[in-house]
Amino acid sequence: SLLGIDLGTTGVKAALFAAEDGHVIADAFVDYELYHPHPGWAEQQPAEWWQATISAIRSCLIEGARLGVSAEDVRGLGLSGQMHGVVLLDSNQQVLRPCIIWADQRSDAQCKWITEKVGASKLIDYVSNPALTGFSAPKLLWIRDNEPEIFARAQTMLLPKDYIRYRLTGVLAMEISDAAGTCLLDVKHGQWSQEVLTALELNPSLLPPVVPAATASGTITAEVADLTGLRQGTPVAGGGADNACGAVGNGVVEPGLALVSIGTSGIVLAHAQSPQVDASGPVPRVHTFNHAVPNAWYLMGVTQGAGLSFHWLRDNIGLPEHALERWTGIDSYELLAREAAGVSAGSDGLVFLPYLQGERTPHLDAYARGGWIGLTASHDRRHLIRSVLEGVAFSLKDCYSIIREQGLELNQLRATGGGAKSPIWRQIIADVLGVELVTTNASEGPAFGAALLAGVAGGVYASVQEACAQTVKIVSRTEPNTALAPVYEQTYEVYKALYPALKPIIS
Ligand code: XUL
Repeated sequence: SLLGIDLGTTGVKAALFAAEDGHVIADAFVDYELYHPHPGWAEQQPAEWWQATISAIRSCLIEGARLGVSAEDVRGLGLSGQMHGVVLLDSNQQVLRPCIIWADQRSDAQCKWITEKVGASKLIDYVSNPALTGFSAPKLLWIRDNEPEIFARAQTMLLPKDYIRYRLTGVLAMEISDAAGTCLLDVKHGQWSQEVLTALELNPSLLPPVVPAATASGTITAEVADLTGLRQGTPVAGGGADNACGAVGNGVVEPGLALVSIGTSGIVLAHAQSPQVDASGPVPRVHTFNHAVPNAWYLMGVTQGAGLSFHWLRDNIGLPEHALERWTGIDSYELLAREAAGVSAGSDGLVFLPYLQGERTPHLDAYARGGWIGLTASHDRRHLIRSVLEGVAFSLKDCYSIIREQGLELNQLRATGGGAKSPIWRQIIADVLGVELVTTNASEGPAFGAALLAGVAGGVYASVQEACAQTVKIVSRTEPNTALAPVYEQTYEVYKALYPALKPIIS
């Protein structure tokens, strides 16, 4: 068997898979806090991730053992995680401050500074991406500018899942698909950009070695074996960024395939055989990152607040759902989605902008703000819900359209993430994009991809492509309802016009 760990934004998932066909043997999820010390800020405590990871691994292994699968037989462990978060360690490998995570928007001034210091077009040449508040380098520089005494003590910068690797194995390393999101990696060549480090006056020793995704990076220590029940010496693969692992787990590992994922953030990601960059405007609107597949890349558009918008809606507008979930046994999100299905496509003119934590693709604007526009007295709660699902779908359409403009062939779009579990939301997305969405057996998402990478590292599979060919199966197809195309196109036009119209007033 193979173990996958996905360190997400809301919690960590540990899942044990059968290597022969990828079926889930056991899994466990443990959540943790997300702190917003100021509007636009987002932090988490690495110590809380670590405690949650130990509990999740333990519970998963206990469940596995109950079903006759021993921890002794785990061939390898793969790590997946939320991207871009900055974890700083001192000379004793102690965490210096809470992690500033991907969703944090405080570093706009640092992005401008990076762009000025390196030069806008040189930056794209060196790291294939612009400086964005979501990425790691601006967060690191925010700490240098605002907490110099902490920065002075920093010896090592890690990304979230790479911190977990350090705790599991004692190895300090950054895996390549995640390192791509720092804005410090030469994405074309897979090594730290000395040019950018020099221009930003950053000491290269702050960055650990870059390691590949599908190769062992270390092994489980004796101490961790005691804490978790894993066998000492179990190999830990490089693993991958959550989006790269989501792609692997869904078989998006070759040209023609793309992924749409709705977690806290939403993404559209297309496999690419070369590090091509969106060059149609002054700044690339989609990211170019290294894939967890060797010598491959992907283009990705990101919606900052996808599942987050629905989560916010459930917690603030849909309070009865928590109770109803207990009475009916039906997931609270699905209860809301069913209500949404009671009103027609286009939400009778009500449009929701999902910019609850700024927006990346296409606006690249940390100060973008969300809202409902077009509300009338004849709208009710169902319209509020439906417009949120549609607004996120419009924002994914922005990502999808830009990716299509890049000239990559896209033969199939695979849907994944918590949001894609809802057949109603899947249908809305298929209708808005006007394409068929398929889902695979990768119900555990990135944890599955991480486990497949561990399988490649451990010699269970010959390559990432073979791992996917052996284990990934298509389980559902959602065809777009073409009759709804006109109403969605009209509403999308309104949606697209709202951000530029509101920008001068809001940001
Ligand atoms: C991608 C991004 C998010 C996080 C979420 O660039 O910031 O998708 O990886 O976990």
